Amino acid sequence: MNYKNIIVQKKDSLAQITINRPKKLNALNKITINELSLAFKELEEDSNIRVIILTGSGEKAFVAGADISEFADFSVKEGTSLSKSGHEILFDYVENLSTPVIAAINGFALGGGLELAMSCHFRIASDNARMGLPEVSLGVIPGYGGTQRLPQLVGKGKAMEMIMTAGMISAKDAKECGLVNHITTQEELLPFAEGLAIKIMKNSKLAISAAIRAVNANFEDGTNGFNVEIDEFGECFGTEDFIEGTSAFLEKRKPNFK
Ligand code: COA
Repeated sequence: MNYKNIIVQKKDSLAQITINRPKKLNALNKITINELSLAFKELEEDSNIRVIILTGSGEKAFVAGADISEFADFSVKEGTSLSKSGHEILFDYVENLSTPVIAAINGFALGGGLELAMSCHFRIASDNARMGLPEVSLGVIPGYGGTQRLPQLVGKGKAMEMIMTAGMISAKDAKECGLVNHITTQEELLPFAEGLAIKIMKNSKLAISAAIRAVNANFEDGTNGFNVEIDEFGECFGTEDFIEGTSAFLEKRKPNFK
């Protein structure tokens, strides 16, 4: 599919989505959110794709937030609907994909940009990256999951401080508080993400999807994550990947997952 504000590239089983509005620091306007939603759906349905890397174009920003110019005159009803539809079509959707998604944060990840990175399964950042949820400086709160996912990742106190001060933290601080897993130079960011993707791709796609569901269950209201783990664990025993993985181990060879 042809997109206006994003670039989708596929190399064997690895896909990369690049948000491509560098002049607006890749701010998420409506078209970009819709295109991202369609692209993630397309890649999730492509059985050949094993890992997705999400990044921003240019050297300055991953995503500098939701596009402020689009919602500056919104009513209460429109604001509620903006947040609700964003959750549904993109942010919750990405979190619950069965294909692993790595956010490669190459610069500013602010507001909706950090929220998008937090919806990904994990994050790496280049050393120039700056992250924050500045929404209260605009008289609004994070509306794409930031008030929920930031405390999950960095703890309640740190999240409260970041949200209340509307400040930005460095890549080093983000790593220290668990918001990102690794820091690289800008040049090394995508090769490093690809290296992680290659490691992931050696493992069972089915088991990885089951693990994503089990881990996410821990954060679902009213769901007992341990019970989800028990069920998902059991289901693995009925898969070809389990037969291949255990046989390969016992036969002292590398598994060949389909
Ligand atoms: N929404 C809409 N446009 C945005 C944007 C956003 N979230 N973030 C940046 N842009 C636009 C700017 O308006 C500017 O456009 P222009 O050249 O047509 O005027 C362009 O991107 C470049 O941004 P600029 O502010 O000139 O770059 P800078 O290097 O001086 O500052 C930031 C970078 C990230 C500090 C600054 O752009 C900023 O504070 N952005 C908003 C961050 C934010 O509050 N995000 C949360 C939104 S809910």
